[in-house]
Amino acid sequence: MEIEQLRAELRRHEHLYYVLDSPEISDADYDKLLRELQKLESAHPELITPDSPTQRVGGAPREGFIKLPHSSPMLSLDNALNEGELLDFDRRVRELLAGEPFQYVAELKLDGLSMAARYADGQLQLALTRGDGATGEDVTPNARTIRSLPLRVSESTPFEVRGEVIISNLAFQRLNDEREQEGLPRYANPRNSAAGSLRMLDPQVTAARKLDFYAYFYLVNGVPGQPHHSLALNHLAALGFKVNSARRVCANVDELLAFIREFEAQRDTLPYEIDGVVAKVDSIDQQNRLGWTAKFPRWAIAFKYAARQAETVVEKIDVQVGRTGALTPVAHLRPVEVSGVTVSRSTLHNEDEIARLGLAEGDTVVVERSGDVIPKVIRVVAHGTDRRLFTMPAACPVCQGHVVRPEGEVIWRCINVNCPARLKNSVRHFASRAVMDITGLGRELVDQVVDKGLVRGIADIYQLTADQLAALERMGAKSAERVMAGIEKSKTLPLPRVINGLGIPFVGERTAQVLADHFGSLAAIRLADEPALQQVEDVGPKVSQSIRAFFDDEHNQALVDRLNDAGLTLTHQKVDRSGGPLAGLTFVLTGTLPTLSRDEAKALIEAAGGKVSGSVSKKTSYVVAGEEAGSKLDKARELNIPILDEAALQAKLE
Ligand code: IVH
Repeated sequence: MEIEQLRAELRRHEHLYYVLDSPEISDADYDKLLRELQKLESAHPELITPDSPTQRVGGAPREGFIKLPHSSPMLSLDNALNEGELLDFDRRVRELLAGEPFQYVAELKLDGLSMAARYADGQLQLALTRGDGATGEDVTPNARTIRSLPLRVSESTPFEVRGEVIISNLAFQRLNDEREQEGLPRYANPRNSAAGSLRMLDPQVTAARKLDFYAYFYLVNGVPGQPHHSLALNHLAALGFKVNSARRVCANVDELLAFIREFEAQRDTLPYEIDGVVAKVDSIDQQNRLGWTAKFPRWAIAFKYAARQAETVVEKIDVQVGRTGALTPVAHLRPVEVSGVTVSRSTLHNEDEIARLGLAEGDTVVVERSGDVIPKVIRVVAHGTDRRLFTMPAACPVCQGHVVRPEGEVIWRCINVNCPARLKNSVRHFASRAVMDITGLGRELVDQVVDKGLVRGIADIYQLTADQLAALERMGAKSAERVMAGIEKSKTLPLPRVINGLGIPFVGERTAQVLADHFGSLAAIRLADEPALQQVEDVGPKVSQSIRAFFDDEHNQALVDRLNDAGLTLTHQKVDRSGGPLAGLTFVLTGTLPTLSRDEAKALIEAAGGKVSGSVSKKTSYVVAGEEAGSKLDKARELNIPILDEAALQAKLE
């Protein structure tokens, strides 16, 4: 029957997208299918089932959560804070098992909150937070909104899955940016935001938060449902749960340590926060014989990585002006090392954030690198002896122009469009590598051309002459020629880059691309009204309003006209790459390639019609591996996916 077929198809795409991270269709095509199902269901409401993909969000906000007992206690793990403590743990296990052979399973310790989900008759029945370990809070309607948690599985006997609810670093940053726009306080780190989001009384709010669930325990009647933990993880993956592919069976503690070091090195590049590695004895029989202490299992341990926090003093707070005129307070810190990186500055975002922290110059604070490589001040631990309270400047610190804080916003802005700080940052953005890639037009040169009055707006870049440039400090005829060549070359770059370069608030690389694909020219975008703009994938009211406001401004209209006169590429043809040599193939990149950067390899593959995905699955056609390739390479071998080096990739591109 049509409706059930459609649901099965949607479930398959949800699994591909949210669990395996390798979608087969575009978001727009997925939405089309979902709308079709919604239409069928509203015509036949009697056919709606609770496990339908349309039923992830339902029900009204609640007053509070009901507490329910866990099927067996949800305890936590003992920690090993260094190698010595891990070796102690390993020695105890070996002693207790009296020389019997055994193996460990190593998994990443994701930094979120644990949750138990119970299934019966193939349906998700109940989801509980950990709570105090004995009882948890019933968060079922919220858990249903987590797209990587299946509502329906092919196992009809009752079982329970336990795992970690997290928010990815990207979703965390987007959420915080949105909160800032709305004048709400930012979350300190991804874990707090995941916890806050799962415990929303209104499931609609949870749904918007893009949470993720990684499964790590499979229980039947409150006890492990497979004879080995590694088998349980494979079984969960086969049932459609998201199980982290960064996991490994280790024959001994040395292999465990190798896993720990490998992922410590990758910590900054993972898409989510981890705070360590969990090691578990693989055999459930051996786990049972090892047993538990009063608080912890003797068969598992959490190896903790160094905290990404440190204490230091805020020596000064000053204010920077960005390209949209936003005034951002920045803390200058006494330099301190946070997990291998020296930190001396940290953004404080806005004046409300400073008030929330209760921060003044001279205070001692905790800084954390979390969810982002950029450090954050997360709390004040001691007041300085001579504290200097911060107030936002009454005028722009760069041009002394008017500053305003629009109603409902938390950000003060300099409203002088000719403010040199705004201008310099706009020109830097425009000339940067990812945008118009004008070689040589870096920070220092931008400062000079703006300070000398040679550039009063982006379009002036195209009026610069080699003589003007050669006359500047630390420049000569040769470097001037190089910059001129970069400027000339930028005229040939495709329209999406130009759109990104305009600096329209909320329009970055991706939105620029979809706008160009949809409208085909800058002239058409400039004429489009808000409803027309909202026809574009990912463009909502906030973005369409911002685009409209930009093009309604006469300065910006003049800017676009001048860019047109300068001969930039302002039209665009959506490129059909379905005939390219790599069409239909999906690649995963891992490790460092000898000559190509990640971005370059990705661009080459995409230009040849191929797709690049972040994780290895059965759908992966090739894994391209370089030096120090990690778990993705292991996974490729496990799934028998062909592995290419850079030379083999180049051969395929030809
Ligand atoms: S095993 C008794 N595995 O870390 C076994 N925990 O202190 C307990 N966590 O509360 C959990 N990733 O929230 C396990 N792969 C993983 C984990 C993991 C994250 C969290 C979990 C737990 C805490 C352990």
